[in-house]
Amino acid sequence: MDKKSLIEERVNNGLLGQWYPVAKSVEIKADAPYGTRLLGDKIVLWRDGSGAIQCIEDFCPHRGAPLSYGEIHEGNIGCRYHGVIVDGEGVVQRVPAMPECALEGRKALKSFKVTEANDAVFVYVPSVDQPEPPELVLPKELVSDEWTGFLCTSVWETNYRYALDNLADPMHGCYLHSESFTLAYGSKQDLMKLDKTDDGFRIERVGQTGENFDWTEFELHPGVMFCFLDIPYPPAAGPGGFMRIVGFVSPIDARTCKVFFWRLRKVEGLARDSWRFLYRAKLEPNHWNVLEQDRVMLEGMPDDARKREMLYQHDLGVSRIRQMLTRAAKTQIEAELAESQVAAE
Ligand code: FES
Ligand SMILES: [Fe+2]
Repeated sequence: MDKKSLIEERVNNGLLGQWYPVAKSVEIKADAPYGTRLLGDKIVLWRDGSGAIQCIEDFCPHRGAPLSYGEIHEGNIGCRYHGVIVDGEGVVQRVPAMPECALEGRKALKSFKVTEANDAVFVYVPSVDQPEPPELVLPKELVSDEWTGFLCTSVWETNYRYALDNLADPMHGCYLHSESFTLAYGSKQDLMKLDKTDDGFRIERVGQTGENFDWTEFELHPGVMFCFLDIPYPPAAGPGGFMRIVGFVSPIDARTCKVFFWRLRKVEGLARDSWRFLYRAKLEPNHWNVLEQDRVMLEGMPDDARKREMLYQHDLGVSRIRQMLTRAAKTQIEAELAESQVAAE
């Protein structure tokens, strides 16, 4: 494959050298493995005796059965098929069916670094130019105590790029979500403007900030990328002004992604409790409805829609996010090509 195709393929499958959220913290247990996929590869996660999360390839070194069908034995994972036990480093610990089997002690599988933060589990996918994970930079809203919120996740049958494009496109709010109780306001015509920020960019409707879902900011740090935006909230939805959404998108494979959205408000004390109560009791279904509108629209778009699309001024953010992915993919592919050249010499 030529370099250009390699770059395109990397963008399509998802960048390496990134921390990606893969699950909610509560989904990873000490008594049952959790199997999922990331960038097309099957992985399995579980908690060891200390509560730390382990993550390795979901592939039994014996004959390839999914380890996620197996069980946890003293902090390691045991294959359901013939009982081989593998630890969190991907090393075969025991082959119970065969005494003193030579497989024991062999590092057979890739293992992945894991970080848990704000109810989510992040896995690092190494790249040639960044084999060791950089520290996971989190959005300020997730780090500060001033904000409170809820994490919601959903699997969408669409390439992750369409989910990112959707986030970089504030204009869809007043059309796609026009029926929604918080997004029905504001003008349906506007220009977009794009500004560079310290860590990324901000895409904004020129005339509309504060009226609707009007802007999105993307932040790109070494090894992680996320975005945030505000949804205006009527007073009936409780204290705290805007609701802020912090979003991450993880590529599951070239046709599937998983979105992670934290819905947050900056409220304290009693107001915090009352909003949290209101959210659970009444508001959450509305937010799910809005998210479903996004999902259905994106899943309805053909996978190769990009080849025929005709962008116009509103798509500044869409173009920018694609440009950034392409640049990052180019750096990775060039590092890989350079390394394989060194190896060949
Ligand atoms: S395939 Fe896992 S023990 Fe045989
Ligand atoms: Fe949307």
